[in-house]
Amino acid sequence: MRELARPRFAIIGATGAVGRQLLRLIESRQVPIELASLAASERSAGNGLHFRGAPHRVQALDTLDFSGIDIAFFSAGSSVSREHARRAAAQGALVIDNTNAFRMEADTPLVVPQVNASALAQRPASGIVANPDCSTIAVVRLLQPVHAVSALRSVIACTYQAASGAGLTGLQELEQSSREVLDGLPAGAEPIHNRFAAPLGFNAVPHIDVMLPDGFTLEEQKMRQEARKILGLPALHVSATCVRVPVRNCHSAAVYVRCTHPLSVAQLATLWRESPEVQVYESGAFPTPRELGSSDLVHVGRIRVDPEDGCAFWFWVVSDNLLVGAALNAVQIVEKLVQDRAFDRWSAQAERAAA
Ligand SMILES: NC(=O)c1ccc[n+]([C@@H]2O[C@H](COP(=O)([O-])OP(=O)(O)OC[C@H]3O[C@@H](n4cnc5c(N)ncnc54)[C@H](OP(=O)(O)O)[C@@H]3O)[C@@H](O)[C@H]2O)c1
Repeated sequence: MRELARPRFAIIGATGAVGRQLLRLIESRQVPIELASLAASERSAGNGLHFRGAPHRVQALDTLDFSGIDIAFFSAGSSVSREHARRAAAQGALVIDNTNAFRMEADTPLVVPQVNASALAQRPASGIVANPDCSTIAVVRLLQPVHAVSALRSVIACTYQAASGAGLTGLQELEQSSREVLDGLPAGAEPIHNRFAAPLGFNAVPHIDVMLPDGFTLEEQKMRQEARKILGLPALHVSATCVRVPVRNCHSAAVYVRCTHPLSVAQLATLWRESPEVQVYESGAFPTPRELGSSDLVHVGRIRVDPEDGCAFWFWVVSDNLLVGAALNAVQIVEKLVQDRAFDRWSAQAERAAA
């Protein structure tokens, strides 16, 4: 097969919380791809970002031509993806979409490389690979090895999601909201809650994303639908309550799982210790988001078998929503494609089809 030049990439939303992590990871992991463009809204056009020691200007997305771009990481919100991702794919870029825009589309694989990398075998018909919801990624990475030895029957998840899940403005709002409580609000002022459904400082807000007619939120629906799609278990019973908590970074979840066969704490710990990029906490130790701060691993602790049902157990999982839940997963999708020489294969196929 003809050796092609290294794939060229663009980041849409390069100035955001996830976009900045994408750029940093591609650099630090020495992913063999070349920067073509960094794009954001018109507000950031002309601003500078550094990559591999060189300054790069951010351009407005509206002016970005995707021809000549092999990989377009979209990380600028669902509405931006809905408006521009299909245009990018039509111009030849493989879109890796961090938003909710296409995750449940039949022609778009929803990929966690440690779980369902086989979904990347063919170039997707849509030209888009979807990156799953940030809490769902960590949970399915722990569920899959369990299902391999004892089939999953039901999964109940309660999430405790950090402010950075709402981007850089979410982080700023957590700080301001906390200060309002500590310093006291000026007379007549209303507590701030633009990014969250209620003021987040010193609070817990059980409402992430929009409320749906059935009383669940979209975030809760994502966990149910996406877990089923990624695990390839369309009938799996999954239910969730998703709560925003005044944590800066790293999402946590308490998850209750029922399987077909009993599993001991020791068996679960062994399964997860042998899983890629998972850190298991035993003997009463547990991960917390504040202590993790930032991490490339899925951290699991508080593993307990239900004393009233030997086929059921709880675990507590903490993972970095900006990395494991977003940028790292997207980068690992690309690393897998590069490792499999998918871009070379797909170009050769396209050339053959055009000849
Ligand atoms: N944060 C997380 O933990 C996480 C996890 C998984 C998935 N995601 C998803 O990833 C996406 C980005 O999240 P984030 O946390 O990085 O948000 P963020 O910090 O608010 O960053 C948003 C980015 O999108 C850009 N943008 C906004 N409107 C735009 C427009 N009309 N045209 C072009 N660019 C535009 C912003 O550019 P400016 O700087 O110019 O405004 C910025 O670069 C969201 O869809 C989010 O749901 C986030």
